[in-house]
Amino acid sequence: MLPFTPGKVILITGAALGLGRATAKLLAPVGARLVLVDRDGEGVRRTAAELGIGDRAIGLEVNVLDWEQVQAMVTTAVHRFDRLDGLVNTVGGSSGHGVRGARSIEELDLADWDRTFDLNVKSVFYCCRAAIPALRAAGGGRIVNTSSVAGRSQSQLGGPQYAAAKAAVVGFTRQLAFQLAKDNITVNAVAPGPTLSERVSAIWDKRPDEERQEILSRIPAGRLGEVDELAGAVVYFLSDLAGYVTGHTLDVNGGLYMD
Ligand SMILES: NC(=O)c1ccc[n+]([C@@H]2O[C@H](COP(=O)([O-])OP(=O)(O)OC[C@H]3O[C@@H](n4cnc5c(N)ncnc54)[C@H](O)[C@@H]3O)[C@@H](O)[C@H]2O)c1
Repeated sequence: MLPFTPGKVILITGAALGLGRATAKLLAPVGARLVLVDRDGEGVRRTAAELGIGDRAIGLEVNVLDWEQVQAMVTTAVHRFDRLDGLVNTVGGSSGHGVRGARSIEELDLADWDRTFDLNVKSVFYCCRAAIPALRAAGGGRIVNTSSVAGRSQSQLGGPQYAAAKAAVVGFTRQLAFQLAKDNITVNAVAPGPTLSERVSAIWDKRPDEERQEILSRIPAGRLGEVDELAGAVVYFLSDLAGYVTGHTLDVNGGLYMD
């Protein structure tokens, strides 16, 4: 495992499932103290309990699109563990239209544009804005955001609103990195290709075989990613080795897009 100073307090959004939960599972054995948040309160408390690290992990029901709840989330984290060292923003997603669901701009529901930007961009802005004072107070820290291959290249799945929102995450990450480097805060992002989170697995399993083969044929690795492979990239940015890496977006996509 990567070197990681025990006792660091890491807040992870979207931790009931998928990338957030997988990141928590990798951080639990290296001595991190974890604040796990999700709008699914029951799910995130289940994640906290299944880590088996007792009061080193708490699960909080939070809607990260509600500014007051986001502020209260950071206050609770600092109150509980005395400090905050890292923020991992995993909340995000497309409009749930599935593999063949990328909508043309003419078909795109106007409200979908705002919903997608709220979920993928505003959520990250809110959480960063609320957490940065606490990271500064701790003497520095780490922020890891979640973009997508859609924001680095183009999207088979999500449509123009999702590609634009995930590209915005890349730009936001770079600008925050630039502004916060003097505060010893690094800001990086991961950009997954199709990855078998519980949500994506459920969609994937229902797709006809020929459609799956067509998608796999476009991925040089010939397979979808595993959620642990994505969480590993997040943990690298949080680790003691990554203190001089900032403003970077790391593609985790089996070669689907190469910069
Ligand atoms: N899985 C993939 O194939 C893939 C590919 C590219 C990018 N991504 C990105 O990776 C991230 C994680 O994806 P995943 O598949 O693990 O997601 P997921 O859908 O499995 O998990 C997202 C979690 O966020 C929570 N959530 C949603 N809205 C919330 C809100 N307003 N407040 C608090 N919690 C909320 C959900 O309850 C859920 O537990 C997302 O940003 C997604 O866009 C995923």
